Amino acid sequence: MSRVRNVILVIIGILIIGFVVLQVIPPSSINPRYAAPGNPAVTNMIEWDSPETEALARATCFDCHSNETQYPWYASIAPVSWLVNKDINEGRSEMNFSTDTRFDGQDMAREIQRGQMPLPIYLPLHPEANLTDEQKQQLMDGFIATFGR
Ligand code: HEC
Repeated sequence: MSRVRNVILVIIGILIIGFVVLQVIPPSSINPRYAAPGNPAVTNMIEWDSPETEALARATCFDCHSNETQYPWYASIAPVSWLVNKDINEGRSEMNFSTDTRFDGQDMAREIQRGQMPLPIYLPLHPEANLTDEQKQQLMDGFIATFGR
């Protein structure tokens, strides 16, 4: 019995050490896309067609497509942080509401229509981004009204 207990203790020890090591490895040494994105300056102000469109966009898109990301607590714990950081870095490089000056409203609407944006992995922990069909339509119309086709 005590052999089994020792083996379990060793495994738990290895897991704890492994977890601690993960926390101190610089994420960018594994993949540049895992680097912490932070929140750089906002350099572009969008003139939204309505406050409702802005509110919906902020609730569903801004965490990955703006420099006003609200980081949840688990976003600072590796290795979850690496995946969160990757989505933010890639999302911002595709489209950034805080810095870009040209946008394609039609493209945004199409991503929502197809259920590709917001990324499905984002939804379980962000219920406010889980829009009803009516809200999705309102956001798609708002994007096209704000940014054109
Ligand atoms: C959890 C992070 C996340 C959220 C939230 C999110 N996106 Fe994205 N978005 C990404 C990533 C990552 C990419 C690049 C990879 C890809 O296309 O899947 C991307 C790409 C895009 C693109 C470019 C796609 C293309 O191929 O043309 C558009 C447009 C877009 N997102 C719109 C939106 C809109 C609109 C919302 C809100 C309704 C939104 N995204 C919410 C992460 C996100």
